[in-house]
Amino acid sequence: MTPDNRIIPAHVGIIMDGNGRWARKRGLPRSSGHKEGLETAKRIVAHASDSGVSCLSLYAFSTENWRRAEDEVNFLMGLIKTHLRKQYDFYKERGLRVSHSGDLTKLPPKVREEILLVEDDTKSFTGMRVNLLINYGGRDEIVRAVKRYLVKGGSPDDMNEEAISSNLDHPDISELDLLIRTGGELRLSNFLIWQAAYAELFFSDVFWPDWTSKHLDEALAHYKKRQRRFGGVT
Ligand code: IPE
Ligand code: IPE
Ligand code: MG
Repeated sequence: MTPDNRIIPAHVGIIMDGNGRWARKRGLPRSSGHKEGLETAKRIVAHASDSGVSCLSLYAFSTENWRRAEDEVNFLMGLIKTHLRKQYDFYKERGLRVSHSGDLTKLPPKVREEILLVEDDTKSFTGMRVNLLINYGGRDEIVRAVKRYLVKGGSPDDMNEEAISSNLDHPDISELDLLIRTGGELRLSNFLIWQAAYAELFFSDVFWPDWTSKHLDEALAHYKKRQRRFGGVT
């Protein structure tokens, strides 16, 4: 398919949900769902990049996911850590630039190190941006943005939307154009709440491990048909 940048969303965000239920349906432990979900992520990253998406934000671990059982949290952290190191060739082959959103300070040191390494290793790549949201919360990101503003000496008089936007984790990433949630739930769960103000929403009942290129094509096709008005009149 030839990418058409006029109708392909520049920034797509995915709430990759349903790993646990996918596993339960098969009588498998939740960890199997997460492992399979990782394979899906690779598949979808490749297809998004081929489709001409400029930035793909993937929700991998929320600030609320620490509430899960310790063994599940440890499994997820282990998966993230090993995955980042192992995928370098995949990023290089496609020129994918990897970045991270979220609070790095509260992540296990080994995970933090791997994130910083992969960001550094891929910083000169000019293909699609893959933004990984790990220990990420939309509210937390806004709070951290306000803190940055204050630390730089920002005053109440100069406080405006731009002051927040320019202090988010990645001011260079554009607002969200298309927000996808898999797994059947109809909520945002603290995902990119600032950037999603005018995003088009696409909900899929399919559990994340079952997502294929075909499902992404379907979401992109829906997006093409949307009329974005941003409060104006067409
Ligand atoms: C999403 O799948 C992955 C993460 C939150 C890390 P879930 O683990 O939330 O799967 P369900 O929603 O319980 O099926
Ligand atoms: C959102 O899914 C977080 C990620 C996909 C990483 P959750 O499964 O944590 O969200 P809730 O608990 O159903 O709202
Ligand atoms: Mg879930």
